[in-house]
Amino acid sequence: MKTLRLAALISGTGRTLKNLLDLKAKGGLPAEFAVVVSSSPKAAGISFAREARIPLVVVNRAKFASDQDFSRALAAAILPHHVDFVVLAGFVHLFLFPRELEGRVLNIHPALLPEFGGRGFYGRRVHEAVLRSGAKESGCTVHIADHQYDHGPILLQRRIPVLSDDTPESLAERVFQEECRAYPNAIRKLAEES
Ligand code: GRF
Repeated sequence: MKTLRLAALISGTGRTLKNLLDLKAKGGLPAEFAVVVSSSPKAAGISFAREARIPLVVVNRAKFASDQDFSRALAAAILPHHVDFVVLAGFVHLFLFPRELEGRVLNIHPALLPEFGGRGFYGRRVHEAVLRSGAKESGCTVHIADHQYDHGPILLQRRIPVLSDDTPESLAERVFQEECRAYPNAIRKLAEES
């Protein structure tokens, strides 16, 4: 099995990144992190990159007028690291990645795509929408990203029942537990295939 060279893109708390770093530290993830890119200088997840001594680049979305300009700056931060895959880890912006990264950008979404995804469907809003719909199941989806929000070939999904007394918070918490298994599983699968 190959050790995959990864870039991780974060925007917020960085729990997804932390989960991957903890697993890697225990020898449970065939991956090395070449660079972490944060879309905000205030993202709490930056501390995890620092603790793990991973090169960190802040590409502040607020400083760019368009998704295109922002994406060019992201690509400039990532491409010199020659990574196998880019892992979107709680990254909430559109990344219009260049052709070199086609098929190599992974995303995890806290619902069963193609439902409850797309622009604006992140965080609590996803789980609120699931509960409002009366869906009996939710879960998470790992997929290869394309140039649309939460879109592209699905690598794996993990499903959980929605409980009658679920709140957006309780559902989010249980879905996140599944995410903590799903993303590493997908990365392992890709490493085995590489
Ligand atoms: C997760 O729900 C994940 O599915 C989505 O972002 C959330 C985690 O963000 N892509 P973070 O890792 O806590 O910043």
